[in-house]
Amino acid sequence: MKVTVKDIVNRKGGEKIIMLTAYDAGLASLVDQDGVDLLLVGDSLGNVALGYDSTIPVTMEMMLHHAAAVRRGSSSFIVGDMPFLSYQVEASEAIRNSGRFLKEAGCDAVKMEGGVDIAPTAEAVVRAGIPVMGHIGLTPQTVSQLGGYRVQGRDAESARNLIRDAGALEEAGVFAVVLECVPDRLARYLTENLSIPTIGIGAGPDCDGQVLVSNDLLGLTNRKVPKFVKEYAALGKQAKDAVDRFVGEVREGQFPTEENSFSLPVDVESLLAENNET
Ligand code: KIV
Repeated sequence: MKVTVKDIVNRKGGEKIIMLTAYDAGLASLVDQDGVDLLLVGDSLGNVALGYDSTIPVTMEMMLHHAAAVRRGSSSFIVGDMPFLSYQVEASEAIRNSGRFLKEAGCDAVKMEGGVDIAPTAEAVVRAGIPVMGHIGLTPQTVSQLGGYRVQGRDAESARNLIRDAGALEEAGVFAVVLECVPDRLARYLTENLSIPTIGIGAGPDCDGQVLVSNDLLGLTNRKVPKFVKEYAALGKQAKDAVDRFVGEVREGQFPTEENSFSLPVDVESLLAENNET
């Protein structure tokens, strides 16, 4: 059954929250299984499905197109990821763009990257009646400012900043916060000191929930996956092997066989003659 924001908040410290990404109806229908609480239409769409090397080029139109497809493939709670510059410029624009995820794509909530800096915007969106999920730690939209894709909160200043960011988001009224690439002890500290659930990705086992990019957990990628990913399948390799076999069988005349063809009960000459008579 589809969870509500209240269900997610009430899972704090209890049954783990499970979130997976999806980018189209097909993937959504496969990963939308019992036990998966939330589907995130992440702006990782840019890297995973659109061939970009970062999330920066991803636009609202791209996100809405894919989020609407995910909605068609799933009846779960769907979180739409606000792409770069869809919420940073001003709060009114953030409210409008967040609303588009709900009105045009059928999402249930939105996610925004950032802490103290975006907390007033997150609060304005929540006040407009739109549930917001936060995202701190390694925030890919500002990766160049962070000095690359690296673990955050390893020194005192960075850890203090993360604690401040998490507190600001909690005050702003977000219903959960993603912690990406945060050392396990700091993630535990944040989890123990926040009233809202934390959902970790590369943040150790003590968060209130976990999220992974579905393509990574399925091994359905050509990219090198980060250390925090566990590949539960090797679908990329299986796909390559399958294509290889298809190529071989077509070349050898082994595919298609009768089994893969549509038969005609009479020969073509008789068929054409029948048509002529009518
Ligand atoms: O875009 C995304 O997929 C994300 C997750 C990695 C949390 O933000």
